[in-house]
Amino acid sequence: MAIKNITVLGSGIMGHGIAQVSAMAGYNVVLRDIEQQFLDKAMEKIKWSIDKLVSKQKISIEEGEKIFSRITPKVDLRDALQDCDLIIEAVPEIMDLKKKVYAEVDAVADKNTIYASNTSTLPITEIANLTSRPDKFIGIHFFNPPQLMKLVEVIPGQKTSKELVDLTLNFVKSVSKEPVLCRKDVAGFIVNRIFIPLVHEAAWAMDRTRTSMNEIDSAVKFTLNFPMGIFELADFTGLDVIHKATIEMYSRDKKVINPHPLIQKLYDQKKLGQKTGSGFYDYAGEKYERINLTEELAKKFDSTQILGTILNNVAWLITNQASDVQEIEKALNLGMGLKKPIFETAKSFGMSNIITELRDLSKKHGKFYEPDPYLLSISS
Ligand SMILES: NC(=O)c1ccc[n+]([C@@H]2O[C@H](COP(=O)([O-])OP(=O)(O)OC[C@H]3O[C@@H](n4cnc5c(N)ncnc54)[C@H](O)[C@@H]3O)[C@@H](O)[C@H]2O)c1
Repeated sequence: MAIKNITVLGSGIMGHGIAQVSAMAGYNVVLRDIEQQFLDKAMEKIKWSIDKLVSKQKISIEEGEKIFSRITPKVDLRDALQDCDLIIEAVPEIMDLKKKVYAEVDAVADKNTIYASNTSTLPITEIANLTSRPDKFIGIHFFNPPQLMKLVEVIPGQKTSKELVDLTLNFVKSVSKEPVLCRKDVAGFIVNRIFIPLVHEAAWAMDRTRTSMNEIDSAVKFTLNFPMGIFELADFTGLDVIHKATIEMYSRDKKVINPHPLIQKLYDQKKLGQKTGSGFYDYAGEKYERINLTEELAKKFDSTQILGTILNNVAWLITNQASDVQEIEKALNLGMGLKKPIFETAKSFGMSNIITELRDLSKKHGKFYEPDPYLLSISS
């Protein structure tokens, strides 16, 4: 089946961006939200973004106009789903709301319309099973902002057809993005399964070693080759997002995170990061401020334990056949901005040192840290 007409449900942070990238690839897009005022704001943002591309001479004025004219905002659901080949759902991350939305959609959508959810953490299979067509349901996880981020995770549910997986991978490429296939519907998919636990782990490392946040973040940046520190990235992402993802992922799988109470505390205190003026760090202005991280500070923290947890989660994905080394490296590079493959960083630490560290942590802090069989297999 060829995709021509797309309906994006939800015109918020993700929805308006997904609508824009789809229109830029030539698709006809309907952008649907529950109130006209939300759509007006979304269309303004899209216009601003297209104008910026024109002013940077990335596209011509005529191309910009064409792209904008391919997006039609609509409130009426039946109208929005007329002749729709593919629905990309980007409504808020609340299971009950998603349930309600899919019930409404199912009542009016054509029987051949494909459903794709942009959920970051909710189980694809569970949402798919609420609909009349679990075989035509798939996860398509764009990253924020969709206009700039190259990575899209594609997550089949248990009943998703092979044809739909192939079609979705091709669709992602057609909108000039790089797909990675998360072969199993596991908590956090690939990137969040590595990122979210890491925030907790960095907080545990701070307690255990009495190292400062700046020192840990400097090591994450300069030794583990991240684009920024992990506390810095958490503040940038928002502690509300991290907290919500933690609850969702931990409720699905206790193995994925060793929750640190500081994340809950910051969330309860409404210290949500950059956007509220404080999170792990304090911020003065509205504009994003870089934290002062240096190679000197990086030397004060041995990041083996943090690297060990990253690798354990990577290895879990491989052992459980959700992904492979190549795809995970691609996801870490494009989704988290890692400048060097994680297994190359691991080599420079020595895999046997990392295993020793994990065994030591496991003795002191429990089974969570036990090295995954895949790590043991590659260290011998
Ligand atoms: N924000 C991120 O960084 C990010 C990144 C990747 C994935 N996601 C996922 O994308 C989805 C959307 O997140 P967001 O950040 O864009 O949310 P958002 O709150 O910015 O936007 C959601 C939009 O959906 C609209 N909406 C609510 N009910 C609706 C309905 N019945 N029909 C159509 N629209 C409806 C809201 O009015 C709002 O405009 C979530 O599943 C989230 O987990 C978010």
